[in-house]
Amino acid sequence: METPLKKLYQTNSLTGEELLYLLNNLDPGTEKLLFSLTHQTRKKYYGRKVYLRGLVEFSNYCRQNCLYCGLRRDNRHISRYRLRREEIWHLCQRGYRLGFRTFVLQSGEDPYYTDELLEDIIAGLKERCPEAAVTLSLGEKSRQSYHRYYAAGADRYLLRHETAAGHLYAGLHPGMSLQNRQKCLQDLKAIGYQVGAGFIVGLPGQGNRELVADLLYLKELQPHMVGIGPLIVHPDTPLKDCPNGTSKKTLICLALTRLLLPEALLPATTALNVLSPTGLERGLAAGANVVMLNLAPASVRVKYELYKGRVQDDLEGQALLERMKARILRAGFAVDMGRGDHPDWTDQEKRGAVENGPGNDEVKANG
Ligand code: 5AD
Ligand code: SF4
Repeated sequence: METPLKKLYQTNSLTGEELLYLLNNLDPGTEKLLFSLTHQTRKKYYGRKVYLRGLVEFSNYCRQNCLYCGLRRDNRHISRYRLRREEIWHLCQRGYRLGFRTFVLQSGEDPYYTDELLEDIIAGLKERCPEAAVTLSLGEKSRQSYHRYYAAGADRYLLRHETAAGHLYAGLHPGMSLQNRQKCLQDLKAIGYQVGAGFIVGLPGQGNRELVADLLYLKELQPHMVGIGPLIVHPDTPLKDCPNGTSKKTLICLALTRLLLPEALLPATTALNVLSPTGLERGLAAGANVVMLNLAPASVRVKYELYKGRVQDDLEGQALLERMKARILRAGFAVDMGRGDHPDWTDQEKRGAVENGPGNDEVKANG
């Protein structure tokens, strides 16, 4: 009776050995039960609600060289672009008129956007779209910089940890370290951001043991959001000959994350949709409760090539939104265009803390 899966459902917790056992012994019956318990869990905390976010990928320049990513600095085959602050505001304002109340500003690690410029972009966006939450996804920065963006009005920060298995992390991220990645996530939490972590499923050398490391790390970090997607191999990267991740494994990881962090905001990621035309629906059925819609014109979207095969279409703005809404409803879920904050997060309370200064280690130690 007391199988690991039932225990996970009841306590939202499992040891590493139990998680590994569960992953190693998933037969079709257990899998079916997993998705059904996941669905019940998401319903208990979120009902059938799916939050929509507006995504603006404003620069595809990146100083990093992650082996899997099409934006890596050594990829000479992509055409790079940067949006001006006015263009970013303009896209968000159009989204705001359509009803979006969260904007995700995402880019590679692009030093062109200095802290001053980013503060300006964030504050200007808050002025133009006062009710909207601003989510950043700009990669690794100093605690000082994270603090400045928060003080300028940013509410959330997405920084996937990518993989919590040290040996995999080291091999895939030249010049980067898992330790610094995790420090960034700690800093973001301490500052008061709603924080998103997450990982890629199907990385070369990643087995169940490595996935357990990801799940345990998430349980420990307690992020507000978790992005999980399959590896989609990009032909102009060193991983070009590797196989893609699978939908099935990704959905299982999504479901396990829902059970470990029942209140987390979990996007049905676009990478899932690359592998299967019903990726979105399957993601929602496996516990996802967030969908991100690209606000940029199709001509810009095609250039943000983390991986190949992103479902490209010419729909923009209202038409894209309406089609997505219809798709979510058809799958049996409800659309929520509100800010969709994590239940634990109260703006007032957290925002009070920002007045206390940069909160970096030195300042704290001195007083
Ligand atoms: N396949 C799947 N996900 C990828 N990412 C980058 N490249 C790929 C790829 N080839 C993910 C990383 C990054 C996020 C923005 O996109 O997890 O954090
Ligand atoms: Fe840059 Fe992010 Fe791609 Fe790494 S995954 S190369 S940091 S855009």
